[in-house]
Amino acid sequence: MKIVILYGTETGNAEMLAEDIGDALDADHEVTCTNLSDFPVGEFDAETLYLVVCSTYGDGELPASAQPFAEVLKAGATSLAGVHFAIFGLGDSEYEETFNFGSKRLAELLTQHGAVQLGERATHDASGVDLAEDLALPWATEAVALAESRFGKAA
Ligand SMILES: Cc1cc2nc3c(=O)[nH]c(=O)nc-3n(C[C@H](O)[C@H](O)[C@H](O)COP(=O)(O)O)c2cc1C
Repeated sequence: MKIVILYGTETGNAEMLAEDIGDALDADHEVTCTNLSDFPVGEFDAETLYLVVCSTYGDGELPASAQPFAEVLKAGATSLAGVHFAIFGLGDSEYEETFNFGSKRLAELLTQHGAVQLGERATHDASGVDLAEDLALPWATEAVALAESRFGKAA
């Protein structure tokens, strides 16, 4: 299956996690890993599974590398109909009121434009006990299984 891992980051944690997910999936799938800041909205296609990994910054805002992407989506009438994505958030429960709002905002933006979310949004808490990859790798495997059942295994 074609998988594009898109990450939104401020200080690199989401990028490192995206690369770990890519390494785990790369043996069985055609995987690329791209910063949201380098991904033109017009490049989404319906045959690819998008795994989005995004942190939260400021006061529940998107991290810097996701902001231009979000601005383009907000500004235009882009249709993401037929696009499938799953999303994983990085955050910190020290920020009680805005815990993982970045990934929440991004998921809302993608679905508002017609994309279909596969599975529930998963989140990591930097103040919790789990390592991000211990949560993200099972999340990614589940998203791939959900996509395979939608696209057919041969995709
Ligand atoms: C200045 C600052 C603001 C933050 N704001 C939030 C927030 O509002 N909500 C949240 O869940 N996490 C927040 N975080 C935690 C980050 O999302 C978390 O550290 C994440 O792992 C950073 O990933 P990144 O390096 O990919 O950007 C904040 C961190 C910093 C340093």
